[in-house]
Amino acid sequence: MARISASVYTSHVPAIGAALDLGKSGEPYWQPVFKGYEPSKEWMRTHTPDVVFLVYNDHATAFSLDLIPTFAIGCAAEFQPADEGWGPRPVPVVKGHPELAAHIAQSVIQDDFDLTIVNKMDVDHGLTVPLSLMFGQPAAWPCPIIPFAVNVVQFPPPSGRRCFALGQAIRKAVAAFDQPLNVQIWGTGGMSHQLQGPRAGLINRDFDRDFLDRLIADPEGLSHQPHIDYVREAGSEGIELVMWLIARGAMAGNSGKDAPRVVHRFYHVPASNTAVGHLILENT
Ligand code: DHB
Ligand code: FE
Repeated sequence: MARISASVYTSHVPAIGAALDLGKSGEPYWQPVFKGYEPSKEWMRTHTPDVVFLVYNDHATAFSLDLIPTFAIGCAAEFQPADEGWGPRPVPVVKGHPELAAHIAQSVIQDDFDLTIVNKMDVDHGLTVPLSLMFGQPAAWPCPIIPFAVNVVQFPPPSGRRCFALGQAIRKAVAAFDQPLNVQIWGTGGMSHQLQGPRAGLINRDFDRDFLDRLIADPEGLSHQPHIDYVREAGSEGIELVMWLIARGAMAGNSGKDAPRVVHRFYHVPASNTAVGHLILENT
C-alpha cells in the first residue's frame, strides 16, 4: 500500500525561480532565502519520495477567466513548464503519475469532492519554484509529480475547512493505492503578500508566525479561519495559504502524541513582495 510520509510547505515566489535560473542565488539579497532551504535539500537527499502530490495554484497560465476549476488534478504523463512574467522557466519537464492520479481522482470524487480531471496542462512558478527550492537544479526531477491546482486567484476560493477535509480524503485515497509508494504532499503559496491596490506590499509577520504555529499544533482549529481573515490580515494573495491546509489534512496526526514531527521551519522577509515561509513535517 502507498503512504504519505511527509509534507512540505513553501512559498512559490516567481522571482526566486528567476534568481536561480539567472545565476543570482549568491547575491546578498537572495543568500538568506536560499540558506533557509539548505537543510531542506539536505533532508530531501535522504528522503526523496516515489511521488510528490503537489498542491499549488495556477496564475492564469493554464486556466483563465474562461474556466475556473476550484480543484484540478493533473492526470497526464507529463506537464510542460510555462509562465507569465519571466516566461517558461528552463527547468525539466514535470513527469506525472497517471495511475496514482487517476486512483486519487476516483477515490476523492467518490468521497464527494468535485475535482476537475485535467489530461493536458502547463505548470507555472506555483509548481516549479517549490521543486527548485527542494530539489535544486537537476537535469531531471528525481520523481514523478502529480500537480493539484486550487483556485485562489478568482473569488470565491475554497474554504479552509474544505481544504483540510480534502486533505483527509487524499490521505485515505493514497492509503488505498495498491503499490508500496512513498508519497509526499506539498502545499505551496503564501505567506502574507498583496500584489495589487493601495495595500500592495503588505506583510504581516505576526499572522504568518501564528499561522505556522497553528498549522503544526492545531490545524483543525486553523481550518475554521474564514477566507476574509486571510485577505484582511495576510493580503489578497495571502489566501494562497489555504492550500497548506490540504497538505496538513493529509498528515496522520492533528495534535498530541501522534502529531507530525517538525523537521525544519524557516521564515524570511523580504523576497520580492512576499514573506517566505517554509515548513517540513514528517509523520512519526
Ligand atoms: C509574487 C508572489 C507570488 O506568489 C506570485 O504568484 C507572484 C508574485 C511576488 O512576491 O512578487
Ligand atoms: Fe502565487
